[in-house]
Amino acid sequence: MADVEWWRSAVIYQVYPRSFADSDGDGVGDLPGVTGKLAYLADLGVDAVWLSPFYRSPMVDGGYDVADHRDVDPVFGTLSDFDGMLAEAHKVGLKVIVDIVPNHTSDQHPWFQEQRRDQYVFRNGRGERPPNDWQSLFGGPAWTRVADGSWYLHLFDPGQPDLNWRNPQVRDEFDAILRFWLDRGVDGFRVDVAHGMIKAEGLPDLGRNTVLPYFDQEEVHEIYRAWRKLIDSYPGERMTVAEVFDSEPDRVARYVAGDELHQAFNFDFLEAPWDPAVLRGVIDASLEAAGNVGAPTTWVLSNHDRRRHVTRFGGGLTGLRRARAAALLMLGLPGSAYVYQGEELGLPEVLDLPDEVRVDPQWIRSGGREPGRDGCRVPLPWEGDAPPFGFSPARRSWLPMPPEWAAATVAVQRDDPDSMLNLYRKALRLRRPAREFAWRPAPDGVLCFETERFLVAANLGGSPVPLPTAPVLASSPLTDELPPDTTVWIRT
Ligand code: NOJ
Repeated sequence: MADVEWWRSAVIYQVYPRSFADSDGDGVGDLPGVTGKLAYLADLGVDAVWLSPFYRSPMVDGGYDVADHRDVDPVFGTLSDFDGMLAEAHKVGLKVIVDIVPNHTSDQHPWFQEQRRDQYVFRNGRGERPPNDWQSLFGGPAWTRVADGSWYLHLFDPGQPDLNWRNPQVRDEFDAILRFWLDRGVDGFRVDVAHGMIKAEGLPDLGRNTVLPYFDQEEVHEIYRAWRKLIDSYPGERMTVAEVFDSEPDRVARYVAGDELHQAFNFDFLEAPWDPAVLRGVIDASLEAAGNVGAPTTWVLSNHDRRRHVTRFGGGLTGLRRARAAALLMLGLPGSAYVYQGEELGLPEVLDLPDEVRVDPQWIRSGGREPGRDGCRVPLPWEGDAPPFGFSPARRSWLPMPPEWAAATVAVQRDDPDSMLNLYRKALRLRRPAREFAWRPAPDGVLCFETERFLVAANLGGSPVPLPTAPVLASSPLTDELPPDTTVWIRT
């Protein structure tokens, strides 16, 4: 399948730079920290790394509030650290995808500081009230009032004013930003809030509508058609992956229909409970929607915005066992898969972070009603018996790490043939691009499908079922049967 673009079947590892590895001892991860761990990622067997934002930012939203798109924030290092990391990644055979955040900037961005109002969405209010009834996705009104009495729109935090994508200067600026990173040699972009840049004409009240007036407007597709041309003008197989939320897989598929972006995250898969009927339905719908437009399906279980799946699937040993089974299910499917840092260690969500260490705007703006996303962003445990487990040369990490993670460090798992880490390593060594897919008959509660590589059987039911042949890989120890919450790969 050498003639097929790499991203169609790639396994892409998400690095959340604040929490991956700290080289300089400030307790926050950084780019030299990433460089130092590239050998680990190459050994894990992934094809590419997607880095969440490391640009200049006041870090109101963990770097998704960008103040300068063409520079690295000092907390993460320098541009030359980025170049060094990219060169080293390419040397060990890893592609690098960076995050692009086009829906909004930081309020510290020069445009906002210089009060360039045409670049943003400013409106007059209705008396003392905001221009419309839109709510911020982090809670509270989506509008903030400035000194002259007008209001600006922010779908997220007030520190993240929304850009006005009907202004050609905004489009030109983002073309230049894409070129800046493509010229440096990146292999692609993850597009933040890809469905949100164009707001409905006239900014109508949401009222009782369920279709959000800032989602998936027709004109947003023009932007991606232009981006695709720009990206295709570069040599090599550069790619893009869209963060699009829509309950209709066919609407998501429009973003990857040939002349737009390359992939979209499969949030239906991420949101599916550990339930065979639901998962089967999601797999069918995803394969069909992407297949209709000739795009690869993607699969994802966790990311920096969601509760980690070990916890979602029940936590404790049950959650861990299901997460192992889910990993082999995901990696056995055709298409491309995304692995969030730490899932290869089986890390759970940290549910008991003390209030005073939480920094996520979701937590802050909901007045503590929403737990927020800090619990899935706790730094990775690399080695040693006590926090910060080799994450940082300092004594502390920016979020505290649970002492019991001593048993989950990379160093411990590397030496244990049955660890989650070694399960991912083995799966990624055996995995090959697959395009064919067919369900096979199976007992109740079992998902069984065949690709040109493997017969994959996942038992999500409550009792063991017979196994046809000896598998090449199993997510948990087998008897002569396939026990509950276990997935196997059988060579076909
Ligand atoms: C999606 C990102 O994944 C999330 O972390 C961020 O808060 C919002 N977009 C706003 O940029």
